[in-house]
Amino acid sequence: MKTKISNFNGYLRYANDELFLEEVSCKSLAEKIRTPFYCYSLSEIEDNFYKLKNSFSKINPLICYAVKANHNALVINLVSRLGLGVDVVSKGEMVKSLNNGITPDKVVFSGVGKTEEEIKFAIKKKIKQINVESEEELDEIDKFISSKNQKINICLRVNPNVNAKTHEKVSTGRSEDKFGIPLEKIKSIFQNYRDKKSLSLMGLTVHIGSQIEEITPFEESFKVLRKLVGELLKMNCKIKSLDLGGGIGINYNGDFYFPLQKYAKLVEKYFSDLSVEIILEPGRFLVGSAGILVSSVIRKKIGAEKNFIILDSGMNNFLRPSLYNAYHKILPVTKENVQSCKFDIVGPICESGDIFARNVQMQDLKKDDLVVICSVGAYGSCMSSNYNLRGVAKEIFVKGNKTIE
Ligand code: LLP
Repeated sequence: MKTKISNFNGYLRYANDELFLEEVSCKSLAEKIRTPFYCYSLSEIEDNFYKLKNSFSKINPLICYAVKANHNALVINLVSRLGLGVDVVSKGEMVKSLNNGITPDKVVFSGVGKTEEEIKFAIKKKIKQINVESEEELDEIDKFISSKNQKINICLRVNPNVNAKTHEKVSTGRSEDKFGIPLEKIKSIFQNYRDKKSLSLMGLTVHIGSQIEEITPFEESFKVLRKLVGELLKMNCKIKSLDLGGGIGINYNGDFYFPLQKYAKLVEKYFSDLSVEIILEPGRFLVGSAGILVSSVIRKKIGAEKNFIILDSGMNNFLRPSLYNAYHKILPVTKENVQSCKFDIVGPICESGDIFARNVQMQDLKKDDLVVICSVGAYGSCMSSNYNLRGVAKEIFVKGNKTIE
């Protein structure tokens, strides 16, 4: 009997009480690969991409994958084969993208602290555009480029002062956040820099946060952007591109679905009458649901107030629960007909914050049982560290019944 897990496209599922990702059994993988390891479904990433693309069929935006969500070469390779561009935030991400099939004309360079070396590299590679976060940055770009006979496309990142109603640490569109240029400065910057030989000020960008679950913050920021575009057009500024950032929330707990169609309709409502290129920068939406972290139980520990299941993966392998109190479903690899128990599922690291889930009610687990932590494809492995010198978890991929290492 096959049971689908609700927050995936169907690629993570039980068959005869064994967990499979695509056609590959997690247990068979763990017999060959030392736990903990990340495993990603390539089909899941593709399905997520087509869901997004199909919702936006009227607008036909350029989708630039936010590489920061998962910079594995195979992921970049897949997105390049699907025809996407990339949104990068460092020279490292730029180099890796260019080495894995992305052409410079599809590279958007974002970030609040681009270094001189990074800006020069972007200019040399003639990338699609730089999303600029301050007047100071614009001056530097102008300085680095002015000696050459080259023009670089610039979008100004607007801070619309909108609360995305997401986790404090990933909220980026309020005026107190370090991101973007204050709204009231944008027109004067256009005025002052529009005739620069080296800079082509051709658009605007906004990104108000990540894992946004409501549509209203997006609408608020689109309203601000639309009004601003109108004012800039009146000033005879050329607006050729609007980059609407990322931020689409995904379903971590099984009872939430982001209203993609509504979101696409909003973009149509606010921007489809303008003849501009629309860019989207999804990270989490494309890869988040595609990944699992397969771990073994080191032991069960009976505590004074509660019991603990100690896994061989820790916060160094997967930081989101510790850093953001993020919820990630945890599933046994083999469903067993044993009593159900309540425990905290923790890692082996010497910090109380090294915890994956509190007061979980699930089948009793014992030494060497395998579990998977779900929806770790975005901001999982790429945020891991070698803290406690525990080593970095391997990453593998599945497609159909094939395993790709
Ligand atoms: N564009 C820009 C300018 C960004 O800063 C980000 C994410 C994205 C696009 C992609 O956003 P997404 O579609 O993935 O929400 N480590 C945190 C998330 C940090 C997001 C940073 N910026 C987490 O694990 O929740």
